Amino acid sequence: MTSGLMPPITGKKGRILSGIQPTGNLHLGNYLGAIRNWASMQADYQCLFCIVDMHAITVWQEPSELGRATREVAAGYIAAGLDPSANTLFVQSHVPAHAQLAWVFNCVSRLGWLNRMTQFKDKAGKNREAASSGLYVYPNLMAADILVYKATHVPVGEDQKQHLELTRDIAQKFNADYGTQLFPLPKPIIQGPGMRVMSLRDGKKKMSKSDPSVYSRINMTDSKDEIAHKIRKATTDAQPLPGTVEGLEGRPEASNLLNIYAALTDRTLEQVLLETEGWQFSQFKTKLTEAAVSVLGPITTEMKRLISDPREIDHVLARGADSANEIANGVLQEAYNAVGFMSGRN
Ligand code: AMP
Ligand code: TRP
Repeated sequence: MTSGLMPPITGKKGRILSGIQPTGNLHLGNYLGAIRNWASMQADYQCLFCIVDMHAITVWQEPSELGRATREVAAGYIAAGLDPSANTLFVQSHVPAHAQLAWVFNCVSRLGWLNRMTQFKDKAGKNREAASSGLYVYPNLMAADILVYKATHVPVGEDQKQHLELTRDIAQKFNADYGTQLFPLPKPIIQGPGMRVMSLRDGKKKMSKSDPSVYSRINMTDSKDEIAHKIRKATTDAQPLPGTVEGLEGRPEASNLLNIYAALTDRTLEQVLLETEGWQFSQFKTKLTEAAVSVLGPITTEMKRLISDPREIDHVLARGADSANEIANGVLQEAYNAVGFMSGRN
């Protein structure tokens, strides 16, 4: 059996798979809400971190931009501390088994399940007829990303919880339909709402790659001056900062900036409020800029170095694809056997 190809997950709590789409620029939300947490898990789990370019093209991506954005995410992963020698960093389209298993899952997953996916409704917008069919079956591909490695844990933001539940439903139905135990039911590791970084322009909106305003987000490649400028322009209210969490009620922009400050300085919101009670925003923004520059500065420098000479990134991704392909092809073959496909010449 091909399952002999699966490297043992000895001495680890399990296997993690997660991914980011190479659309637009990586920003502070991606760092604080995702990549930084992944970095903290790499000692305890065997980790695969993917750049999901096949998910990206479910909505239009400029071909001349996609490769650049893919390398930028890889640079962000490495610069933010994901160790390419200890983890598998790779590009989704370099591992054909994702798409191959996704096809099988298109036949396992039910229309009724996909119809409930809120992200499709959000992304398709009003003109649903014009959405790509890829956008509709996006969650089946995501299930394949995870299950093609038999990942046991998946760190994601709140917004991906529903896709993880669908992944578990697909694993369960596949196992039941084909009388196998092939796929484990992966557990989500959900980042709490506390780590949702909001837009610098509107404290009620998530910081997002797709926000048309460049002032809404701090990019991981922003210079010190850009960071300072964006924080200076960030929306605030007219009151001084409160001393308690209750005092932040109804003040989304103040909450957001304080939460970012707490995350950047590795403290709780309560601890930060002890420092900043009674401050005006101008004083606070100076401190926030210092914190952002001191955390992001070294990451930005390293990202720029990696991007300026992509050979190192390309080498890491090629090696990553090799080890990902090795695992994924083994699991794909097991799935093909379970389905009953005639064995080919392999
Ligand atoms: P996306 O940028 O939507 O492709 O998301 C990639 C990863 O970053 C996911 O794990 C998200 O949950 C996380 N993420 C994206 N935006 C934010 C945000 N504003 N705050 C916290 N996490 C975020
Ligand atoms: N859908 C995820 C997002 O938008 C990205 C993603 C694709 C992913 N495949 C995945 C995340 C597998 C975790 C595991 O953020």
